[in-house]
Amino acid sequence: MAQATEPSTHGAEGSGVGVVVVPTPLIGGDEADVAPLPAPNPSAQLQIDPNDAPDLSDADSAMGEDASTASTSIMSSIRHYKYENGRRYHAFREGEYLLPNDEKEQDRLDLHHHVFRLTLRGAITLAPFTPTPQRVLDLGTGTGIWAIDFADEHPTSTVVGNDLSPIQPTWVPPNCKFVVDDIENEWVYSPHEAFDYIHGRGLGGSVKDWPRLYRNIYNHMNPEGWLEIQEYEAWVRSDDDPELLNAPAIAQWNELIDEASIKFGKRINIAEGVEQGMKDAGFEDVRDDIYKVPIGTWPLDKRLKELGLYQLEQMCDCVEPFTLALLTRVLGWGYDETQVLMANVRRDFRNKRNHLYISFHFVYGRKPASIISE
Ligand SMILES: C[S@@+](CC[C@H](N)C(=O)[O-])C[C@H]1O[C@@H](n2cnc3c(N)ncnc32)[C@H](O)[C@@H]1O
Repeated sequence: MAQATEPSTHGAEGSGVGVVVVPTPLIGGDEADVAPLPAPNPSAQLQIDPNDAPDLSDADSAMGEDASTASTSIMSSIRHYKYENGRRYHAFREGEYLLPNDEKEQDRLDLHHHVFRLTLRGAITLAPFTPTPQRVLDLGTGTGIWAIDFADEHPTSTVVGNDLSPIQPTWVPPNCKFVVDDIENEWVYSPHEAFDYIHGRGLGGSVKDWPRLYRNIYNHMNPEGWLEIQEYEAWVRSDDDPELLNAPAIAQWNELIDEASIKFGKRINIAEGVEQGMKDAGFEDVRDDIYKVPIGTWPLDKRLKELGLYQLEQMCDCVEPFTLALLTRVLGWGYDETQVLMANVRRDFRNKRNHLYISFHFVYGRKPASIISE
């Protein structure tokens, strides 16, 4: 059962207090905004900037492997957070999600939102919905930054964001509301609350039963409504070093995170299967637009260089949240050996000899027109 994070007097369709939250500006955004988003071309190699050479890396390494510019409201039980190894974890359905929910993680999620926006040249959606959807649901909304931006950009939409953690801000646009809910629970929305657009981003590691989730989404969506899942592959790649021989800690990390999340029952690396999952659930016109997101400033292209700069910080910040609980709780690693692995992974990320990237999948599809919503 969903629990409102705001006092219920606000009503179902508007928990905000009328103050518009200014979305994170795109840094260098004017320039990033003007050019149209190029067609996705995941098989093309990104060009390497020869001037971004390893011998220029001294400044970076002098900062140390931990250097990061990025990291610098209700029922009490859902706030009885669990603390472990210096990080804070959610309380509602404790143990169901293995990444922390503390301020450090919230900063990372907001930085990642910026990376997503830069990837799409400022856009937050790719699904070609028309008209503007009336009812919008953001699954596993995190800090709510996507939902707030969507509500700001579409003032006629009503946006609901749900999450296990009540970490969203109180001051939100009047057409945006947050609830504490488990998306793997029975969905309690009545037929007249069906959605026109459902969005989920970064949900790998949050879902045990994807076919069931797609069915719930489908059944609570109006005909011709759109589903959009934005998911990054949890597998770091390099076109000029496909076996990651120059990034051995990352190669090991890829395997370990995959093994642990599968063992936990909520695999993180699910991006490549989303398109088929949506088709199997009955969605039509499904597209999977894939963009390579560089890690570091190694690309020649100026826009990708800026994107890579932010993604490098985001990746270094994501190592601990993705690794700590999975390795210690699920694989039984000790705290110290986990710290050593994490330090080596961050060192590989900051090594300027590496030309690493991650593929982001933007998968969207439409519920058929003729099917009557249940
Ligand atoms: C990686 S974060 C992504 C947050 C947000 N979608 C974004 O892109 O910024 C995953 C979020 O899903 C939430 N989550 C995990 N399992 C969930 C579940 N079963 N039901 C609802 N939310 C869940 C987590 O609490 C976390 O905030």
